[in-house]
Amino acid sequence: MILLDGKKTSADIKEEIALEVIELKNQEKKVPHLAAIIVGNDGASLTYVNAKVKACERVGFESTLIRLPEETSEEELLNEINILNVDKDIDGFIVQLPLPDHIDEQKVLMAVDPDKDVDGFHPMNVGKLALNLPTFISATPFGILELLERYNIETSGKNVVVIGRSHIVGSPMSILLSQKRNVGNATVTLTHSRTKDLAKITKEADIIVAALGIPEFLKGDMVKDGVVIIDVGITRVADASKKNGFRLVGDVAFNEVSEKASHITPVPGGVGPMTIAMLLKNTLLACERNR
Ligand code: GUN
Repeated sequence: MILLDGKKTSADIKEEIALEVIELKNQEKKVPHLAAIIVGNDGASLTYVNAKVKACERVGFESTLIRLPEETSEEELLNEINILNVDKDIDGFIVQLPLPDHIDEQKVLMAVDPDKDVDGFHPMNVGKLALNLPTFISATPFGILELLERYNIETSGKNVVVIGRSHIVGSPMSILLSQKRNVGNATVTLTHSRTKDLAKITKEADIIVAALGIPEFLKGDMVKDGVVIIDVGITRVADASKKNGFRLVGDVAFNEVSEKASHITPVPGGVGPMTIAMLLKNTLLACERNR
């Protein structure tokens, strides 16, 4: 069994990006600048956003973190977005999700200039992705494509089963892997909570992307020998023996499934670290495209 090491792979990608930044500096060109807006004080979201900002600093990007209070109105948030849209120094920015209930998420995502939408969440960019046109591929599916590519995992003609139809992961993943592209050309089955006899489908899979958000959902008896497993799940489960009181658990019962898998991503240290590296990659791309 080969562990698909997202931590190591993301470090490699960040090193490649850092070298490109040095090259930009040598040529006296502008370095990429990523901004992030976060509304409220959700612990997990703050951790993620801080990790994104820190990653920018490590590769030599500029970064700006805009923290807004929980009670920020939709109008105030849209105003902040507009400021970033017109700021020539900002190449790309993200609005960390989820947003407080009183703010319409779709309205917010649509307000982001599609050319600065490094999360790839604007409907224009989602549409371009569906049409296989150049766009910002959102970080998690982009990271999975990159991981498959760097570990030379053949996808062409393979049976891929995606579990979960979220707009951020399952849906774009199923579209991308079915497309005519370098990592693609697969026969994809997108499954979800209404799917009947899921185990019958997953047992036929050469590659499984588990992205439903239920800890240890995919069991050993649901997969065939030699399967490639991409575990996108990351749930905090209470664990008194841990320093911070919780441990991170994926959507896959790792011990059982890893006995049958040819390749598997660990949690943590698999897909998670890849997402930040791909956000940086999109920001570099935005910087190159916008000038
Ligand atoms: N919340 C969870 N994942 C993401 C992401 O990729 N981008 C943003 N903006 N918020 C998130």
